[in-house]
Amino acid sequence: MEGRDLVRSVKAVGSVGAAQALRTVRAAWRRRRTDSAGLPPRGAERARVPGQVQNAEPGPGGGTLWFSRSRLRIVVAANGAVFWGWDGAEPEPSYALVGCPEPDPRAVLEPDKDGGWRVVAERVTVVVSRNGAVEVRTPGGVTLRRDLPPRWWEPVDGGGARWLQRAEVPADARFFGLGGRASGPRLRDGTYRLWNTDPGRAFVPGDDPLYITMPVQFVVADAGTHLVFHDSTWDGTVTLREGEEGAGSGHDRAGTCELRMDGGPLRCWVVVGTPARVLLAWASLTGAPALPPAWALGHHHARWGFGSEQEVRRIVAGYRERDLPLDAVHLDIDHYDAHQVFTVDRERFPKLPELAEELWRDGVRLVSIIDPAVKSEPGNAVYDGGVAEDAFVRDGSGDVVHGVAWPGEVAYPDFTHARVREWWGGLYEERLAQGFAGFWHDMNEPTSFTAFGEPTLPRSSRHALEGRGGDHREAHNVYALCMARAGFEGVRALTPRQRPFLFSRSGWVGAQRYGGTWSGDVATGWPGLRASMSLVLGLGLCGVPYSGPDVGGFDGSPSPELYLRWFHLGAHLPLFRTHASLRAGRREPWEFGADVLEHARAALVGRRRLAPYFVTLAHLARRTGAPYVRPLWWGAPEDRALRDCEDAFLLGDCLLVAPVLDPGADRRAVQLPRGLWYDTATEQPYRGPGQVLVDAPLSRIPVLARAGSVIPTRSADGGLELEVWAPARGRGGGGMVVPDSGDGWEEAEIERYAVRWEGSRVVVEREGEDGVGEPPHPVRVRGLGEG
Ligand code: NOJ
Repeated sequence: MEGRDLVRSVKAVGSVGAAQALRTVRAAWRRRRTDSAGLPPRGAERARVPGQVQNAEPGPGGGTLWFSRSRLRIVVAANGAVFWGWDGAEPEPSYALVGCPEPDPRAVLEPDKDGGWRVVAERVTVVVSRNGAVEVRTPGGVTLRRDLPPRWWEPVDGGGARWLQRAEVPADARFFGLGGRASGPRLRDGTYRLWNTDPGRAFVPGDDPLYITMPVQFVVADAGTHLVFHDSTWDGTVTLREGEEGAGSGHDRAGTCELRMDGGPLRCWVVVGTPARVLLAWASLTGAPALPPAWALGHHHARWGFGSEQEVRRIVAGYRERDLPLDAVHLDIDHYDAHQVFTVDRERFPKLPELAEELWRDGVRLVSIIDPAVKSEPGNAVYDGGVAEDAFVRDGSGDVVHGVAWPGEVAYPDFTHARVREWWGGLYEERLAQGFAGFWHDMNEPTSFTAFGEPTLPRSSRHALEGRGGDHREAHNVYALCMARAGFEGVRALTPRQRPFLFSRSGWVGAQRYGGTWSGDVATGWPGLRASMSLVLGLGLCGVPYSGPDVGGFDGSPSPELYLRWFHLGAHLPLFRTHASLRAGRREPWEFGADVLEHARAALVGRRRLAPYFVTLAHLARRTGAPYVRPLWWGAPEDRALRDCEDAFLLGDCLLVAPVLDPGADRRAVQLPRGLWYDTATEQPYRGPGQVLVDAPLSRIPVLARAGSVIPTRSADGGLELEVWAPARGRGGGGMVVPDSGDGWEEAEIERYAVRWEGSRVVVEREGEDGVGEPPHPVRVRGLGEG
């Protein structure tokens, strides 16, 4: 038994007793048996490389190259994204894509030197050497990425191949992405696994993999920015090594990336351009991010172990009595009957719909946790329904696969089957009737507690995979994605006039179509605080813009200072939620002394004031794919100092947030992008690019506003007010505002503003089709002292 496995089973003993621990041992043996019977033995393999190019055939958007032992299809899509697939791999079927984009008819295949070929398109050139190396170049001819000829290992007796794809990137390139990684946002040298995993305890930086892994790399170099996505859902690893530039006359050493996949098609997408352009094309490929309702952009309070309706009331009253804004309360598994999803413990929560209504009247929504595992016990209505529907995952011999989760022995719905998704989606009716307004998907890697080995289903478990059929090796990473789809479509069908609100612990490429995520069980401590920011940034670059951490960390008890600094960070992230484990200390803002309470109130009030800005960012994320939270290099990827700066972020176009990530600080260095910035607390101006020292007293973290920006805020009377930061003298500014259009599907119109100096006055005008006009909202100009 490995150390971590032991911890996991001790944890199981600690939380639900010896019977559960025994189950985890039995389940582990069962899984081992199932896999030894159900998985093909790894017999002799034959290695293969593409060989030499023999022939080329132009096709829409590019063409097909025939090598002696493989073929390569290259298509440049109309949105500028490049697809290539080996061995006949096509873009579809794919769990990531929302459809296959049209080929760009202008892209042409032409011969290149040394017997190679190239596809020339408007924004990118793809050069293929005669032995199958694929190079992505800017239109100016600068290389962004060079994939060496791939290598396959095929079982001699037939079956799918595993493969290896090595690539080189410029010596100065930095890697980001790969889903939610605790040790980012810049992914340093190391091996990252592509297998969604519940680490089994609160995680710290360095723990890898975590709940959401994605074969998506965001690579930033002087030569340009690109995103590369290898569309295979199988287990794999990515080994990254940053390059090194030769000092003086020395040679550059290229950065390298080595992707090893246990199976699946060898196909990939590459998108080239500015970060904003890359995310725009990425969202058009994998789907627009779901728009959270406005309340979901406020403050959420969760707790594993509220224990009763009275306790929920006490907490909500605690917020109200202390004038602390609160928008949502989350109920964890302890409100279930015996931990069974879609049930309520009637003793401790006898009148949940009334409680929900009462909270609703106070502007507080109830959110329910949803676990996928169903207690396998005849008489349990969800289980019986699942059996009748033939919904549960089976093994190769046709038996339902059993694992262990909070309710004990459980079965797992096969969300890769449309019929099962529909059945599951219908179960949310019970939740809606209880008064829940949003859903929090958990344990959906999927997790099965285990005494040893992998904490998930046997790899040989069978899945429908939309009718194609396959096993858990292929379905594992998309299990949560398909569960999110089931929940989202179910809730949408049940309440068609409202946008569903859903966020999920696990997921894959495309998860943003159904909602967001959160950072999972981050360890309480300063490293955890840093890790929780890294996850949000990394996920945003992979196309999932709505996420946030458990403020205060999941386990233990944060010091008042750590709690407050985490609160400050959370208040500037899309999902702003306090949450903690059953055994952790309290997380209510009044539990840490009078000073923390006062500062936390200021953060909550500040968040509420910024609510219209968050709504605008949510709409812009939906329309453009741009995450709310962006790395500092977003607008200047060529700025190396920004590329290496990992302790601050941009919140939309207007704000720069510099959280305090170390104890004892009362000021901190902030790396500024080019331009004039104002400390929003003091209005003190700072000029970038460069590093400045900014005050960071315990009461707040540095938040800087870009000169010339227009920030929609909520005024004291609840209306919309435009906070405008004076442009630098001689310069202009502007911005976009999307007013809240309610919780339905109506899309509000984007309001565009221009800002300019007129003598000693800053003038703000709304830009319309018929020219400029007065803004329809009150305007407050700040930063007039300097400029
Ligand atoms: C694991 C989740 O990550 C955590 O947030 C939740 O409180 C527990 N499961 C209990 O449901």
